[in-house]
Amino acid sequence: MTDQKLRWGILGAARINQQLMPAIVSAKNSELVAIASRRPGAAAETLSQYAPKQKNVKIYDNPESLLLDKEIQAVYIPLANNEHAQWVIRAIEHGKHVLCEKPMALTVNDIDAIKLAAEKHNVKVMEGFMYRFHPQHAKVKEIIDSDLIGEVRSVRSCFSYMMQPARLYRIANSIENGGGAMWDIGCYAIHAARLPFYDTSPLAVSAMAKHSDSGADISCNGILDFGEGRYAHFDFGFEHARRAEYEIIGTKGGIKCHNVWAKQAETPIISWWTEAGQQEQELLPLANHFCLEIEHFSHCVLNDTKPALSLEDAKLNCLIINSALQSINTGQQINIS
Ligand SMILES: NC(=O)c1ccc[n+]([C@@H]2O[C@H](COP(=O)([O-])OP(=O)(O)OC[C@H]3O[C@@H](n4cnc5c(N)ncnc54)[C@H](OP(=O)(O)O)[C@@H]3O)[C@@H](O)[C@H]2O)c1
Repeated sequence: MTDQKLRWGILGAARINQQLMPAIVSAKNSELVAIASRRPGAAAETLSQYAPKQKNVKIYDNPESLLLDKEIQAVYIPLANNEHAQWVIRAIEHGKHVLCEKPMALTVNDIDAIKLAAEKHNVKVMEGFMYRFHPQHAKVKEIIDSDLIGEVRSVRSCFSYMMQPARLYRIANSIENGGGAMWDIGCYAIHAARLPFYDTSPLAVSAMAKHSDSGADISCNGILDFGEGRYAHFDFGFEHARRAEYEIIGTKGGIKCHNVWAKQAETPIISWWTEAGQQEQELLPLANHFCLEIEHFSHCVLNDTKPALSLEDAKLNCLIINSALQSINTGQQINIS
């Protein structure tokens, strides 16, 4: 153990910094050292908006200059989805540890290249699925491991909200360039749907989607086949009332996690039931999963331990997403191998 703080740089003035910047500032083992933006004034403005009390943070007018800063040990990448892979690799080549926003990359080949580079430069890289650091999922795992609900047979994972028309620009990029609901929120629904099956790869996926006028997928339903009658259903989109939940059905009962990609002020609720008549609900304490994610990654770097979310996990999620997109395009079930 060490009481050192990991020195962070942020590689873009993105909206998500509203969450991540305060998380880096408040994480007990982390220090915000710099932020870069390619747009003049944007980095300084982001800093004054989201971390106004941080006085000595360096401002860079391009990401490359930030990467050359030897003081910085780790970078957080909040760039647009189609820029992630190239900047992850550049950061690695500068010897930085990297936490990259989801999705880490749009292709499996890019994740392979990231893995090779990370091994070569001996740095840690993790995909930013912050929700996994919320203690509610450890509680769900504890219930599954206790055998209370028996063997997991089926999962249902939903993430949706009504996107304001003014915000549709966010997903208007082509799907190949990281636009659409799949890359934006579907990646969460699929990641969470896999959770109760641990690291098992699904055998196949079937999916269907509605597309917006710009060609981006806007709502989607799909099924992952984990074999032997075990399925995970994912459902996400921008044309529904807000849902952010998953449900797991086993041979003896079920568990529901009611607010998965929780807004910070939402009380985390887990409920479970058994065929034997047990019916429980637990309200967990509020937790900031962004801050927990930063503390986890900083801890891994400072103590040379493995990040909870591996590059193999990122690769599998990317493979499933691409297979689901292929299923949408072809109308066929796609085998995953
Ligand atoms: N974990 C979560 O809860 C969560 C939530 C939302 C999004 N995300 C992910 O986080 C990443 C960023 O999403 P975001 O919605 O925050 O992106 P965003 O605000 O659109 O910013 C993405 C990048 O685009 C550039 N940019 C920002 N505003 C711009 C503008 N007005 N004109 C031109 N360029 C601009 C910035 O780079 P420069 O500063 O260098 O120009 C920025 O880093 C995505 O990968 C997304 O999937 C995660």
